Amino acid sequence: MLVPNGRVIMISGANRGIGSAIAKRLNAAGYRLSLGARDLSSLATLTDEWNTKNFLKAHYEAEDVASHRTWIDKTVNKFGRLDGLINNAGMAARVTVEDADDGTLDRMWEVNVKGPLSMVREALPHLRRSGAGRVVNIASLAGKIVYDAGIGYSMTKFAAVALSHATRHAGWADGVRCTALCPGYVATDMTQAIESFPRKDMTKPEDIAEVVTTVLALSNSASIAEVTINCRDEPMV
Ligand SMILES: NC(=O)c1ccc[n+]([C@@H]2O[C@H](COP(=O)([O-])OP(=O)(O)OC[C@H]3O[C@@H](n4cnc5c(N)ncnc54)[C@H](OP(=O)(O)O)[C@@H]3O)[C@@H](O)[C@H]2O)c1
Repeated sequence: MLVPNGRVIMISGANRGIGSAIAKRLNAAGYRLSLGARDLSSLATLTDEWNTKNFLKAHYEAEDVASHRTWIDKTVNKFGRLDGLINNAGMAARVTVEDADDGTLDRMWEVNVKGPLSMVREALPHLRRSGAGRVVNIASLAGKIVYDAGIGYSMTKFAAVALSHATRHAGWADGVRCTALCPGYVATDMTQAIESFPRKDMTKPEDIAEVVTTVLALSNSASIAEVTINCRDEPMV
């Protein structure tokens, strides 16, 4: 098992939902954190009582590639190292097979796939130097199962799973391990409008944070490539 103390982890979309739960859990575990968000003021309450030596806040906009390199540079300048990247920021919009709304689909590609890919590219040299670098992509069960004709989000999350496997291959020889985390419904803002399934039975963001903490702590010889998390009985591929 890896000891958290001293290790530096970046989390995108750390300001709310799953990202915020991961940040709280990793801070409690003793990691040093680099928190990425579109609006830095939205991170204020999260870090209110944290020791400023142990965290950094930086601008992360998935659709602005320049912000990716700047965030990584700030992180390495402050902490002198980088040990983990949690690609969490994401968006969900309904695009069906017969919709001609490529604008929404293109945005989802930028946020759910191209942003994370760019972050992996920028982070890999530093993660290799760590000797035990970790990447966790918050994909989705929609990246494992196609539920209906709503193909847009699912396509991007299948791609996020593919990115995870490719990252594992790219970094393996240098100790980088990558996990695709694939939850079903999680009780966050993203699922606020879901009426077909009771909110009280959705997975809690804190449970996702617990899984991330475990995956980060496992040694190089115990890599978990994919984690699927169900809150209901559903068929798996
Ligand atoms: N909730 C679920 O049921 C569920 C299930 C499976 C997977 N996931 C995945 O889990 C991840 C987190 O989702 P969540 O449930 O915590 O959703 P959420 O509460 O809606 O939070 C989404 C996060 O992504 C950030 N974000 C959105 N667009 C962005 C952009 N263009 N650039 C940078 N950041 C952006 C948001 O920032 P702002 O606050 O600035 O908008 C926010 O921090 C996503 O990748 C999602 O697809 C969620």
